Amino acid sequence: MLEEIKKIEDSFLQEIEKVKNLEDLEVLRIRYLGRKSFINQAFSRIPKLERNQRAELGRALNTVKKKIAFLLDEKRKTLSVQEKKIDLTVPSFSIDRGIKHILTRVNDEICSIFEKLGFIIIEGKEIEDEWHNFEALNIPLEHPSRDVFDTFYLDLSSPSKEKRRLLLRSHTSPSQIRVMEKMRPPLAVISPGRVYRPDKVDASHSFMFHQVEGFCVDRNINFSHLKGVLFYFARSFFSPQVKLRFRPHYFPFTEPSAEVDLGCILCEGKGCSVCSYKGWVEILGCGMIHPKVLKACKINPKEYQGFAFGMGVERIAMLKYRINDIRLFFENDLRFLEQFYEV
Ligand code: DAH
Repeated sequence: MLEEIKKIEDSFLQEIEKVKNLEDLEVLRIRYLGRKSFINQAFSRIPKLERNQRAELGRALNTVKKKIAFLLDEKRKTLSVQEKKIDLTVPSFSIDRGIKHILTRVNDEICSIFEKLGFIIIEGKEIEDEWHNFEALNIPLEHPSRDVFDTFYLDLSSPSKEKRRLLLRSHTSPSQIRVMEKMRPPLAVISPGRVYRPDKVDASHSFMFHQVEGFCVDRNINFSHLKGVLFYFARSFFSPQVKLRFRPHYFPFTEPSAEVDLGCILCEGKGCSVCSYKGWVEILGCGMIHPKVLKACKINPKEYQGFAFGMGVERIAMLKYRINDIRLFFENDLRFLEQFYEV
């Protein structure tokens, strides 16, 4: 009997070598381990044997059964990989890794420069009311920017008692009001976000774009603090050699007000198409917060002063990365976006 078991094992070892597919493997399994197989039949014969032979035969049968089952299982694993035609030597696909959109990265970079100076980020609301977007910022009723041609008004009225008209904010300056209504000075806040204007879309206009608003309110704040902060920003963001020019301007919410020009970084002031041959490009608006704005937020302008500034993220990104059409940011053409992998 023991010899027969040995023979069975040997013939199994020879046959399994020849098996080339899962179907034949199953036939082999049934032949060696199935109900009518030699091994199973032999098990049923054990009780009829002499007592002293039982244990020995039982052990031999169990060992060979386990061995055969193990080898069948190994072979099944190998064959299933082969039958699924998985070629483990084929190099893997290259996976395109995503990156943040260039506008998001420029926005994050701007904010982090101000964060280093101690500014904190507080976002405002994209749906605003007339009070926050205009009135509290000292923009009077007859101001042209309140016209329906310059602001997207919504067909809704605000749930507040005052029933103010709602709109899509046309700038991030209302964030100043939202913060100063709730928080007391000292304040140094940076407020990024989307803004909306019904402009005809072309290479330099979009009906939606991004701004970063910044402001600081405390005792004894003056214009040189504003200059220091903006110089720090421009030197960190563009290059340590940049030039800035503060040009007097008018904004209803600041007094005095200025527009800030950057010495053209492409032609270094010599004149090129980017700076319209002027050598300077306007990058932001700023000024000392108007006393009326502080009063609207119940902050005493005799005790506190502040500066504020606002810049367009697309404009700044276009300058830094020499992008000549604002629409490229929003079309999301991968050929454009991929150029910023290395930035
Ligand atoms: N809100 C202005 C705009 O959208 C930008 C601006 C100018 C913001 C002067 C300011 C500021 O905070 O002081 O054009």
